[in-house]
Amino acid sequence: MSTIIITGGAGFIGSHVVREFVLKYPNYKIVNLDVLTYAGNLANLKDIEHHANYTFVKADITDANHVLQIFEQYKPDGVIHLAAESHVDRSIVDPLAFVMTNVIGTVNLLNAAKTIWKGDFEGKRFHHVSTDEVYGTLGEVGLFKEDTAYDPHSPYSASKASSDHFVRAYNDTYGLPVVLTNCSNNYGPNHFPEKLIPLCIHNVLTNKPLPIYGDGKFTRDWLFVIDHARAIDLVFHKGKNGDSYNVGGFNEWQNIDLVKELCKQVDEKLGREQGTAASLITFVKDRPGHDLRYAIDASKINQELGYKPSVTFEEGLSQTIDWYLNNQDWLDQVSSGEYQNYYKKQYQG
Ligand code: NAD
Ligand code: DAU
Repeated sequence: MSTIIITGGAGFIGSHVVREFVLKYPNYKIVNLDVLTYAGNLANLKDIEHHANYTFVKADITDANHVLQIFEQYKPDGVIHLAAESHVDRSIVDPLAFVMTNVIGTVNLLNAAKTIWKGDFEGKRFHHVSTDEVYGTLGEVGLFKEDTAYDPHSPYSASKASSDHFVRAYNDTYGLPVVLTNCSNNYGPNHFPEKLIPLCIHNVLTNKPLPIYGDGKFTRDWLFVIDHARAIDLVFHKGKNGDSYNVGGFNEWQNIDLVKELCKQVDEKLGREQGTAASLITFVKDRPGHDLRYAIDASKINQELGYKPSVTFEEGLSQTIDWYLNNQDWLDQVSSGEYQNYYKKQYQG
């Protein structure tokens, strides 16, 4: 039996990756290592928490000794590393938290894997889950390719870029078997309502303004989260040692158009007059260092590994809105407490 440690498995993307692996690979033992920050929520995994091949371990990846102790105890053959501070706006307020988790935490995991694998890398793999934001920003044309030079602009993307460099350095220097994925913006169920799509759904439901940064013309490439989990499964099992794979949806939207589409669908689903939700759209102060456009060239993962997203944006957005409408208790739970303070400082502060 293979044992795989998935870090950040209680978060948005991590919970979908954990579910994919627990259900698809009953012969693997899946260990979810997560410290449960504001973004980590075990309710995201309620449906699989009693599966025999699933274990949760609460641990902070910035604690090198604890990480090593867990690696010695479970002796993983594989690591899929998603644990991170993931929100750009929070990184602008507290960059050091991002250095600690995203850089130091990643190096602690690399060291633990290197220590327990002791140079015997047969059947071993460290998969680092990264982001397209490491490439910086595009102008109106062009796509990020795997060999696009890194040019991060936010403390978040700088910390992710740094962690990517460490992962590659451990491959080059110690021969640690690694793969990396750099994915575009995800959306779907269990997305924390600090990010654009769930924030707007939450605000429509609570009749609050929908804050659009700057002129709203910033562009992102959106991928349904389950399609990201499928890509991770594929690269973890079949990706070439030392390689990176860009993952994206070939699905670019300017923020303002995306939010208008979301408003249209919410009004339809709630049986309300069109324009009700959109009347909440409010242009607000721009994000400092805001990247204009991200767009992924995902031809490598397509050509080498046969990967294609399975869900169209229309289906994915509709499923996402339905999920939030049917899980308002989840939204109420995650948006109480600390979220209220964050929201006040970020949007009313
Ligand atoms: P998230 O913020 O929803 O979840 C992060 C998880 O990591 C949480 O469960 C949290 O408790 C855990 N965590 C944070 N600090 C930790 C620590 N010190 N020790 C242990 N666990 C810790 O993030 P997400 O959106 O699911 O992103 C997951 C990964 O995917 C991140 O590495 C992110 O950079 C990357 N990524 C995200 C997107 C996106 O659109 N959300 C796109 C591309 C790549
Ligand atoms: O590209 C991948 C990245 O996508 C991931 O690495 C990050 O972890 C993830 O958070 C996401 O980063 P973004 O900054 O692109 O996502 P966010 O949802 O915060 O913002 C999406 C766009 O919407 C961006 O242009 C900023 C804008 N925005 C965001 C918020 C929260 C607004 O206009 N208003 C808002 O209130």
